[in-house]
Amino acid sequence: MNASKNQARKYWIEQEAELPSMFRKIDVQKLHASEQREMIGYFPDLKGKRILDLGSGIGRYTRYFSQHAQHLTSVDLVPQFVQKNREDHADCQNIDWICSDVMQIQLHEKSYDFIFFNWLFMYLEDAEVKQLLERSHLWLTRDGELFIRETCELKRSKSRDPTYFVHYRTMAEYASFLHKNWDVRKEGELKTYIYCYNDPFQCYWHCRKK
Ligand SMILES: C[S@@+](CC[C@H](N)C(=O)[O-])C[C@H]1O[C@@H](n2cnc3c(N)ncnc32)[C@H](O)[C@@H]1O
Repeated sequence: MNASKNQARKYWIEQEAELPSMFRKIDVQKLHASEQREMIGYFPDLKGKRILDLGSGIGRYTRYFSQHAQHLTSVDLVPQFVQKNREDHADCQNIDWICSDVMQIQLHEKSYDFIFFNWLFMYLEDAEVKQLLERSHLWLTRDGELFIRETCELKRSKSRDPTYFVHYRTMAEYASFLHKNWDVRKEGELKTYIYCYNDPFQCYWHCRKK
């Protein structure tokens, strides 16, 4: 594993299993609620679908997916996040939890209808993003869909905080990852962050497998 990959994983392993860790901001309850309302508005109908949530953190979307889909597989690297996610959703009967690096998981082909990446790709190297998108293509059924949300920038950059390793890519870079194998059905910026922080760089893509 190269040094930057190690740094990204090390950062996450050391975080507390609480909402502020997911946002890297304090006082995030309202932001979380508003973001979630907006994002859910962009999701397709999930009834009867099998969902894979990669880099699911403490499970901000777990209850919604569990209640609106047939089944959820929730994957995160960090044991304390997976533990918190399990505890908070112990009443949900249709979830599998996997504690693993997403690059290490092995899943059956065509076993998911919808894959959700909410703030994961920015912690992965370009080659890993490409590989994960290729694997996602295999894991999805025909007409399977992806939903990706990432923090972007006008120019590719990294965090100024030396303890926090992240790739801020441009929207065009993400578009180039997607153009070959995915039909982008809808893309845009989250209005919640424009209203709250004047931040137009919280970007999303809803794609269908070609
Ligand atoms: C900003 S948090 C977002 C969590 C969640 N998707 C949300 O929106 O609340 C990033 C998450 O990605 C996870 N993560 C980072 N690198 C990972 C990897 N290589 N494999 C699995 N999970 C990873 C972290 O543990 C963390 O939970």
